[in-house]
Amino acid sequence: MLHKRKILIIFILTAFIVVSIAASKAPVLKERNLKILPKDISDAKLDSIMQTYNVALGVKCNFCHAPYDKMNFAMKDSLDYASDAEPMKEEARKMMRLTIDINKNYFYYNKDIRPEYLHVVHCKTCHQGEPFPPED
Ligand code: HEC
Ligand code: HEC
Repeated sequence: MLHKRKILIIFILTAFIVVSIAASKAPVLKERNLKILPKDISDAKLDSIMQTYNVALGVKCNFCHAPYDKMNFAMKDSLDYASDAEPMKEEARKMMRLTIDINKNYFYYNKDIRPEYLHVVHCKTCHQGEPFPPED
């Protein structure tokens, strides 16, 4: 009887240690859903790029980012940035590819700068604060 309890205690302690180690190694942030921007991008860099989109298109973050599920009460007023539920996000990815291609293929003089970050031609060059630039 005593023997069984000892084994149980050892088992619980071992499980506790294993879980603690796993928890201390697991990153707090879930993996990003980035298909174009570099995976190792810093939060500050990502944020500054996103801010330029708002300015260039004259929109707010919710133009491309869907809100959290309404049932998720804790998050009900925030946007789920990793979600692809808002179709405009994928449209924006096409525009990002277009902009990167233009810079990389026609303006990529400075090889020290990653083409994703080269802004000779940028969203604002065409958009001028409009989400849908007028064709004329
Ligand atoms: C014109 C569309 C557009 C606007 C406006 C926009 N975003 Fe984004 N955002 C994107 C796209 C597209 C991606 C994914 C990029 C990729 O796949 O590499 C993204 C990715 C992100 C991510 C990374 C999410 C993840 O996968 O972890 C964050 C955070 C983010 N945006 C925040 C913002 C914030 C904050 C704003 C407002 C200041 C904003 N975005 C405005 C298009 C937009
Ligand atoms: C070379 C010019 C040019 C550049 C650079 C450019 N866009 Fe666009 N973009 C356009 C035009 C023109 C339209 C309107 C297309 C239409 O009405 O069908 C558009 C439309 C869009 C739309 C609306 C969705 C759609 O497909 O109509 C989004 C979102 C967008 N652009 C985001 C961006 C972002 C973000 C950047 C920078 C990463 C960017 N654009 C760079 C010309 C450009």
